[in-house]
Amino acid sequence: MNLLLINGGARKISRTRGLTQAFEAALKAKGISTRYFDLGVEILPIFTGSEKDRELPAVQKLINLAQQADGFVICTPEYHNGMSGALKNALDFLGGAQFRGKPAIIGAASGGGKGGINALNNLRIVLRGVYANVLADQIVADPEHFDEYTELVDLGAKARVEQMSDELIRMVKLQLLINQGN
Ligand SMILES: Cc1cc2nc3c(=O)[nH]c(=O)nc-3n(C[C@H](O)[C@H](O)[C@H](O)COP(=O)(O)O)c2cc1C
Repeated sequence: MNLLLINGGARKISRTRGLTQAFEAALKAKGISTRYFDLGVEILPIFTGSEKDRELPAVQKLINLAQQADGFVICTPEYHNGMSGALKNALDFLGGAQFRGKPAIIGAASGGGKGGINALNNLRIVLRGVYANVLADQIVADPEHFDEYTELVDLGAKARVEQMSDELIRMVKLQLLINQGN
């Protein structure tokens, strides 16, 4: 089983990265092979539909990692009631060829005060557009769930990360069994 984590937060110091890394640590501790794509590190061009853009190393890397993945963890900041522009742009380079039938879990870093849910709903709709199987459980991480180094430290949030990681592993195993039967 090979899972791809995508950090949709492009800021250099990013709580979304802290949330994505919490998932990465939880999955690694369970012996799962993970790959990581960070939109704050891999700078993608704006999607124009040009075939030339697809040949750029960062775009190739994203497409290949997504193609090889059996499942996904995708995290986004909530910006103006939606996912980050960086993440939406990245998803525009991908589609059913990379996502169809694959389980995914989603998380958002919010500004608190009941934020985050709009970004998750927005992300869920877009992932439906690429035919990913987005699981029902999701997480919103508020600023107080992180320490000053953007590490996720809140025990309740960490427990949710654990539980969502277990569920993702279970659903990917199930999907792989189904795929074997075909
Ligand atoms: C441009 C911008 C818009 C934001 N809009 C929202 C919002 O609509 N709802 C919310 O809960 N937080 C909002 N925030 C706060 C961020 O969601 C919060 O700071 C989050 O931790 C950012 O994640 P990051 O550190 O990965 O960028 C906004 C922040 C920025 C910079």
